[in-house]
Amino acid sequence: MTELSKVKIIAPSKLAGSLEGSKDFAKNFMKKYNIPTARHKTFTAENINQADSFLESMTPPYVLKADGLAAGKGVLILQDLTEAKKELRSMIIDKKFGKSSSKVVIEEFLDGIELSCFVLTDGHSYKTLPFAKDYKKIGEGDTGLNTGGMGAISPVPFLDDDFLLKVENKIIKPTIDGIKNEKMEYMGFVFIGLIKVKEEPYVIEYNVRMGDPETEVVFPRISTDVIDLFDSLGTPKFNQLTLKINPKHAVTVILVSGGYPKEYEKEKVITGLSDVEESIIFHAGTKQEENSFVTNGGRVLAVTSMSDKYQEALRLSYAQIQKLGFEKMYYRKDIGFDL
Ligand code: AMP
Ligand code: GLY
Repeated sequence: MTELSKVKIIAPSKLAGSLEGSKDFAKNFMKKYNIPTARHKTFTAENINQADSFLESMTPPYVLKADGLAAGKGVLILQDLTEAKKELRSMIIDKKFGKSSSKVVIEEFLDGIELSCFVLTDGHSYKTLPFAKDYKKIGEGDTGLNTGGMGAISPVPFLDDDFLLKVENKIIKPTIDGIKNEKMEYMGFVFIGLIKVKEEPYVIEYNVRMGDPETEVVFPRISTDVIDLFDSLGTPKFNQLTLKINPKHAVTVILVSGGYPKEYEKEKVITGLSDVEESIIFHAGTKQEENSFVTNGGRVLAVTSMSDKYQEALRLSYAQIQKLGFEKMYYRKDIGFDL
């Protein structure tokens, strides 16, 4: 600890961490501060008998969320009422996700397009970073299993000024005001998972960190020195600094190990890294050996490119990927397909 006493740390306090760590806490926070989100109710072993009538009052699909962290697996979206009732019991009574699901949030399903909003704050002032959109599914056309993220893009082309203003006024401002009002000490990033339903933004979830792979498209667009920014948090200088954003489009394509997100092999030699010139390579699941890099995880590399148009940025990343290789390398060839 003593070595860290002089190190400036950017992080939320434990209380603020509950915005990510407890869905029930986050939902109550949103309710209290009038932040648009899906209608919900929380259930535990004590009131589980009332859950059936709550589910019956909703229309399918049914969204069941384990209250605590469950490695990204704690959210179930079910079409069938009987199955929803059964799964709810399996979460609460049979502890399907361990202690994380002893409390379950049931909420209304929102049908729209998801996007990620990032805010840097010191708990008083804030700066909104570029918006991004990630691609979570393993398969093309957004099919198959969920992953940590297969690609991302920033800016998000379909957002207009009207919508951004709504996000600012209905979501970001009340969130920061709530953080202030609850006296949560907060220095760092608020990641607001949004869904755009028709022209209205709703909060799906909060995280108290940056997102991955969104970081790989958001940070390359920030031209202001981020160390200056971080250093100014909690001082008047933070307010005075202007956040300079590169108007170029950034895209990233993630190269993963064959088999991911199920079982996959590691220790595959990665070739071509030094041939890549026009893109930024971020190492995620790699390990340096004497003369080479080898794979050491499911998501191995992120290949980010920037250009005036996102189509051109994508073309650049895909062209650079042709130079890279490892046994059973896989990536989605359709990032941005839905734009
Ligand atoms: P969360 O962990 O709360 O972000 O939920 C994981 C994923 O489930 C989200 O990224 C959405 O794709 C989906 N999801 C969560 N809540 C809802 C909802 N109320 N309506 C529709 N989809 C949802
Ligand atoms: N890209 C989503 C996350 O970092 O949770």
